Amino acid sequence: MSELLELRGVGKRFPGVVALDDVDFTVRAGEIHALLGENGAGKSTLIKVLTGVYPADEGEFRLGGASIRPGSPRAAEELGISTVYQEVNLVPSLSVAENITLGRQPGRAGLLNWRAIRRRARAALARLELDCDVDAELGALSVAHQQMVAIARALDTRARLLILDEPTASLDEHEVAELFKIMRQLRADGLGIVFVTHFLDQVYAVTDRLTVLRNGARVGEFATAGLPRLELVGRMLGREVSAAEFAAQGAASPADHAAPPVLATHGLGRRGAVAPFDLSLRGGEVVGLGGLLGSGRTETARLLFGLDRADSGTISVHGAPCRIDSPREAVRLGLAFCSEDRKAEGLLPNLSVRENLLIAQQGRRGALRALTRAEQEQLCAHYIAALQIKTPDPETPVKNLSGGNQQKVLLARWLATQPAVIILDEPTRGIDVGAKQEIEQLIAGLRADGLAVLFISSEIDEVVRNCSRVLVLRERRLTGEIADGDLTADHLMHLMAGTHE
Ligand SMILES: Nc1ncnc2c1ncn2[C@@H]1O[C@H](COP(=O)(O)OP(=O)(O)OP(=O)(O)O)[C@@H](O)[C@H]1O
Ligand SMILES: [Mg+2]
Repeated sequence: MSELLELRGVGKRFPGVVALDDVDFTVRAGEIHALLGENGAGKSTLIKVLTGVYPADEGEFRLGGASIRPGSPRAAEELGISTVYQEVNLVPSLSVAENITLGRQPGRAGLLNWRAIRRRARAALARLELDCDVDAELGALSVAHQQMVAIARALDTRARLLILDEPTASLDEHEVAELFKIMRQLRADGLGIVFVTHFLDQVYAVTDRLTVLRNGARVGEFATAGLPRLELVGRMLGREVSAAEFAAQGAASPADHAAPPVLATHGLGRRGAVAPFDLSLRGGEVVGLGGLLGSGRTETARLLFGLDRADSGTISVHGAPCRIDSPREAVRLGLAFCSEDRKAEGLLPNLSVRENLLIAQQGRRGALRALTRAEQEQLCAHYIAALQIKTPDPETPVKNLSGGNQQKVLLARWLATQPAVIILDEPTRGIDVGAKQEIEQLIAGLRADGLAVLFISSEIDEVVRNCSRVLVLRERRLTGEIADGDLTADHLMHLMAGTHE
């Protein structure tokens, strides 16, 4: 088989970090090649130096045998390298069609040919079998659909190499299956595909070969089918891993039913978002919110946290009726919401890790009781260690951290408010296997400390592992609950899909 892409001796340093150290990487035409490694291993950086987002410090790049050195993502696209980056970098205020053709719009003499733009966008979406209005504003779509639009944009170019940096992190099972179908089709057409993911099931389902990075260096290249899963995890983490270590975590223990619920709603709802629902969360329990993408999970969380206003029902905290009509009020009452959309609702990219970490905590204490610098540094050091956030130091701008480490900063921010109730919306999205396990342990710790946790995740196994019971949403309505003893992946899946008898 021919090597489509050949990288030799690639190096890249950032202040205080060797992001890539003498890395070799090859991708063949007609293969799906996984690029794997822990958070901060250098996966995204390798892609960015290849596609001209940053210059490499050293190394050789060849595409189809010819030496290349694209100076920008645009130049890389012209060479036939299309990329969907980890952080969707499209323009939310433009339409779907504009985003798909951005920078390559057909037209003459400065006049855009709108019919051609829409036609091309529809064609690209049709290849993904995605039913989506090309005139819709991108920002109005769910994160998952925005991601699909980013992939459609990549398909609109005549790519020879398609790079997908964690494209499935926010897709549900059905959408992942659709994407895999497309990837296999493109592979059959002779494309080389680089696939970055933290989901090992997906690695084994769809990739032919894989390359593992650790601390910026290449650990090795393997045929996927020939590499047992535990060995793969061991290579990524750089240590031996036992099967027991990766088996299910301890099952959640039942909460104290004598205590009043920390958070309770009665008939809480919002027209067009979620039908009125009753819910009660006790301290010391982890309650799952199950449902397919678009079932209303995030809308429910937004309502509880005062990001959207309810138009019916009541809510009480520690038994006292209250109104939560702003996130500020929610935080004052001891609620925390770790959002799935870390870019739009979460992190302030130019502020430091310390500032990002302490911002919500500061909000809760109020301006009068500001932390001293020394207190801030101590608190920050505590969370950096507890969550093993990989950063050269607390003053680094958060945008310089790898995607998974940014997610950890967001989680730390909310833990620092010492909430009574924490809503975790896809908390392990984009987080590597080792860190996922750490976060699961952390959730178990929160439960033991008496917090009420509302846990939203698209990964059914994760829900079953972490939760003591699960509320199931379907079509924006709370349709059922699975209690402790009955919680199995099968049962949950059927309730979510509405296929139980
Ligand atoms: N623009 C930047 N400035 C400074 N440091 C950076 C920058 N981009 C990445 N780094 C650092 O380089 C290292 C590799 O980061 P990279 O984003 O490539 O990791 P990754 O393997 O993609 O991780 P993840 O799985 O979390 O996405 C990290 O230590 C990160 O903090
Ligand atoms: Mg990355």
